[in-house]
Amino acid sequence: MEKPATPDHSILDVIQRRWSPYTFADRAVEPEKTRCLLEAARWSASAFNEQPWRFILATKDNPNAYAKALGCLVEANQGWAQQAPVLILTVTRTTFIRNDNPNRVHQHDLGLAVQNLITQATSMDLFVHQMAGVDLDKVRKEYNLPSGFEPQTAIAIGYGMDPADMPDELREKEQAPRSRSPLADIVFGETWDQPSPIVKET
Ligand SMILES: Cc1cc2nc3c(=O)[nH]c(=O)nc-3n(C[C@H](O)[C@H](O)[C@H](O)COP(=O)(O)O)c2cc1C
Repeated sequence: MEKPATPDHSILDVIQRRWSPYTFADRAVEPEKTRCLLEAARWSASAFNEQPWRFILATKDNPNAYAKALGCLVEANQGWAQQAPVLILTVTRTTFIRNDNPNRVHQHDLGLAVQNLITQATSMDLFVHQMAGVDLDKVRKEYNLPSGFEPQTAIAIGYGMDPADMPDELREKEQAPRSRSPLADIVFGETWDQPSPIVKET
């Protein structure tokens, strides 16, 4: 299903087409495509090229691994995410390998890597839905994370579901309009809360 952004200014098609569905087709993601997504994440920029991101990958064709990852999501997310053929739990290294100092931007760099993954996925007609609703303690325990690593988010990936196959209540949710704050609310100039003249002009 398409649910494109409605931008006020021209943006890349792949950005315009991305959205976060609650429904996924009953279709596996090809392993090579999954590798492409992870490869896209791998080539993200990161502070000092530290690459603080880590990914725990679970696919439906390995039911035990899949159930373990799914069980780490909060219940509300488990409800819909269990349709997705691929689940990823994200983890970051919170200190620099080079000197063991805290890495202030580990989550920022994870976000870059995940956005790369999403852009790659969208270009391959795959859909991605990120989740903060994760039982972090459970991830720590279930995967025995070493010290210095923190669980962060989860990601559901799959092909889109045909609206005709969606249950009525989900079709309604999927068709809900998308919205964003105007640029003038988020881009400032000389003083905080005063829109930059560049965006005020629009
Ligand atoms: C870091 C992050 C955490 C999110 N957590 C959840 C979540 O736990 N459950 C959920 O249903 N959606 C979650 N979302 C999806 C957002 O609600 C969604 O991206 C937002 O409403 C904008 O919609 P769009 O992605 O379709 O443009 C999350 C998104 C991000 C980026």
